[in-house]
Amino acid sequence: MACNLLKGKKGIIFGALNEDSIAWKVAERAVEEGAQIVLTNTPISIRMGTIDQLAEKCNAPVIPADATSVEDLERVIDGAMEHFGGSFDFILHSIGMSPNVRKGRTYDDLDYDFLAKTLDISALSFHKVIQVARKKDALNEWGSIVALSYIAAQRTLYGYNDMADAKALLESIARSFGYIYGREKHVRINTVSQSPTPTTAGKGVLGMEDLLEFAESMSPLGNASANDCADYVLTLFSDFTRKVTMQNLYHDGGFSSMGMSRRAMRTYQKGLRFEDVAENQFPFGKADE
Ligand SMILES: NC(=O)c1ccc[n+]([C@@H]2O[C@H](COP(=O)([O-])OP(=O)(O)OC[C@H]3O[C@@H](n4cnc5c(N)ncnc54)[C@H](O)[C@@H]3O)[C@@H](O)[C@H]2O)c1
Repeated sequence: MACNLLKGKKGIIFGALNEDSIAWKVAERAVEEGAQIVLTNTPISIRMGTIDQLAEKCNAPVIPADATSVEDLERVIDGAMEHFGGSFDFILHSIGMSPNVRKGRTYDDLDYDFLAKTLDISALSFHKVIQVARKKDALNEWGSIVALSYIAAQRTLYGYNDMADAKALLESIARSFGYIYGREKHVRINTVSQSPTPTTAGKGVLGMEDLLEFAESMSPLGNASANDCADYVLTLFSDFTRKVTMQNLYHDGGFSSMGMSRRAMRTYQKGLRFEDVAENQFPFGKADE
């Protein structure tokens, strides 16, 4: 159902690891809708993942970069401008990683070096991308920058750990920089708060299977898939959303506005009682309950 929504537009997509990645779906759909793209990811993700297949399909160069490194980001922006023959229109930041989550450190027992890494990779990298792009005047007037967030920035959700703090910072950066870049060059900056999605990063969240089921039963429209997310992100890159900026936009089937659904309540009634749940179902002890 392509309708040339992004005809003539050009942009950089960060974070396509494999075909489950949200960034992968955005890349595919952006090209279907007439955009030209440049792909980027860390050298290790390029080696371990399948981005080369996506690059071939999308006829896009892949420029390796660690998004925490300003030098790497300068190389990506310069490389993209060279490829496009000048400035471009959109950037997708689809990057997240927490060493604390990976190593099973709970929120009341964080390793602070890991926390610094979580914040750098998952939030500060967004600031760095925008700052580098702006200093190089890489984006056209009415350009659009989008990052992916999660509702744990506003509400506490089991298992999300220090990524919740990273997402809160990410959303704040969208507002703070959105003001500067909007005033100056009409560039808009938004975050999309996506449903839980079974990707590599998603599967790393403790209790993800249960979370997916719970969110599905709470959301009147059901969980939004990675493909749904791609469609929504494309609208934000298009000219139909020129006055939307500094927003955190929920793309979650209605989850964020719900208190309790009948479906979730009935599942709970039919389910286990607290006292029936064995200790060993909480692998990280008391803080994990
Ligand atoms: N999957 C979910 O449930 C869900 C829900 C809401 C928001 N999100 C967000 O969506 C975004 C994309 O994640 P995904 O679910 O598609 O998982 P994914 O694992 O496919 O993508 C995460 C990407 O981050 C990249 N990355 C990690 N460290 C990096 C670094 N230093 N520099 C550059 N790239 C780096 C990885 O290589 C990977 O491509 C993340 O911001 C994530 O937090 C995911």
